Amino acid sequence: MKPDFDPDHPPTPRPVGPPPGSPAHLERRQRAHVLYTWSAQQSARPVSITGGQGARFFDHEGHGWLDFESQVFNANLGHGENRITEAIATQARELACAHPAAVFEAKAALGEAIARVTPGDLDHVFLCLSGAEANENAYKIARLVTGRQKVIARRRSYHGATMGALSLTGDNRRWATEPGLWGVLRAEDPYCYRCPFGLEHPACGTRCATHIEHIIQMEGPESIAAIFLEGMTGTAGAFVPPPDYWKTVRAICDRYGILLVADEVLSGFGRTGRWFAVDHFDVVPDMIVMAKGITGGYAPLAAVAMRRAIAAHFEDSTLWCGLTGYAHPISCAAGVAAIRVYEDDGLIAHAAAMGAHLADRLAGLKAKHPLIGDARNLGLLGVLDFAAPGSRAPLIPYAAPTPPGSFLARLDAELRARRLHICRKWTQLFIAPPLVIDRATLDEGLDLIDAALTAAGDDS
Ligand SMILES: Cc1ncc(COP(=O)(O)O)c(C=O)c1O
Repeated sequence: MKPDFDPDHPPTPRPVGPPPGSPAHLERRQRAHVLYTWSAQQSARPVSITGGQGARFFDHEGHGWLDFESQVFNANLGHGENRITEAIATQARELACAHPAAVFEAKAALGEAIARVTPGDLDHVFLCLSGAEANENAYKIARLVTGRQKVIARRRSYHGATMGALSLTGDNRRWATEPGLWGVLRAEDPYCYRCPFGLEHPACGTRCATHIEHIIQMEGPESIAAIFLEGMTGTAGAFVPPPDYWKTVRAICDRYGILLVADEVLSGFGRTGRWFAVDHFDVVPDMIVMAKGITGGYAPLAAVAMRRAIAAHFEDSTLWCGLTGYAHPISCAAGVAAIRVYEDDGLIAHAAAMGAHLADRLAGLKAKHPLIGDARNLGLLGVLDFAAPGSRAPLIPYAAPTPPGSFLARLDAELRARRLHICRKWTQLFIAPPLVIDRATLDEGLDLIDAALTAAGDDS
């Protein structure tokens, strides 16, 4: 009988995978239990990160990456900001767990800080932990205040991944889990480069804003509670609204008693060179939804800021909204510290100045690379929008996967090879570095994009 084990001829050891402690081993351990978001697990593209400083972060092999996505448009204050981590540590030692109705210093200070930076009389806040949750609550508040049920949101928009926020969302992230909530009506976008009406501004009369009145009239004004608009559209396309867009929508809302909600989750806290994108247009919405930059990503925090009259509604009517993590002490402390950093370091004005430089550089890239159909930005939220040369046709159909071997696939690989962390979706490459970035580092990243575009070649 054949022995089970022959010491003179031991079996070849089976491969056991990456050595313990290696970056690949860590990824394997994590992947065994923790899912990646928004992707089939096999096609997920992990980001290796150990820490960072300013506009750079470091991977597990010690390489530096330039962060042109700010960790999902989040790390406005960059990496390694000690003033926030210290505030979090101090808060954690003093008070880390509190009832939603608790009274404590960081919570009061956060309310004051948000009221200081919001426009007009938006000086009351409802606090949450994510942008999606904040949109959910703004949605509920609009229905509670107006007694109306329907809302209007734009076709190319993103408002979060929970069911209500995803129902507001216009872009293709909504499709897989439909049907969502009833009563969301769709308006077209201020996407001037590929105008949904086939018009040109200003001859168009800003149809993307004025057509909203037609939707309202045809649906019954008394049934519509609110209009949800991203301050400046983020990941659904980075559209800079025409100068009269917001004022036109504000006037329509006022005519019909409809609340105007600005979702500034991505465009808020200096991203566009003002505290909020609506500040560029001199408009005061009824509510502003915020998250991400409110702590610069150092702790989960979001808020619905509302005008005094909306808050007053809940003096004697129940606010049917709440969560266990409401005003979490650590998140409040992070928010207070983050807002102080924006103020002390003049980061909003700095983002505006860097934005002006970015506009020049994007124009230069567009002049040089024939596949760039449009280059636009407001502050440090920019995009290169690719098109077939001589037309405005996107390189791939809306929401289509990236064809293997295509220009876009090659571009992704070239950017990654240069260790530029950046977001490309569909036919658009988004540029959104931390606001703390200096001009030389911004140029460094844009030079990497230039080189990657050249290396990726044409659209063949
Ligand atoms: C405009 C906008 N609203 C809402 C959200 C959802 O925020 P969160 O991912 O924190 O739920 C996002 C996220 O990217 C966003 O860009």
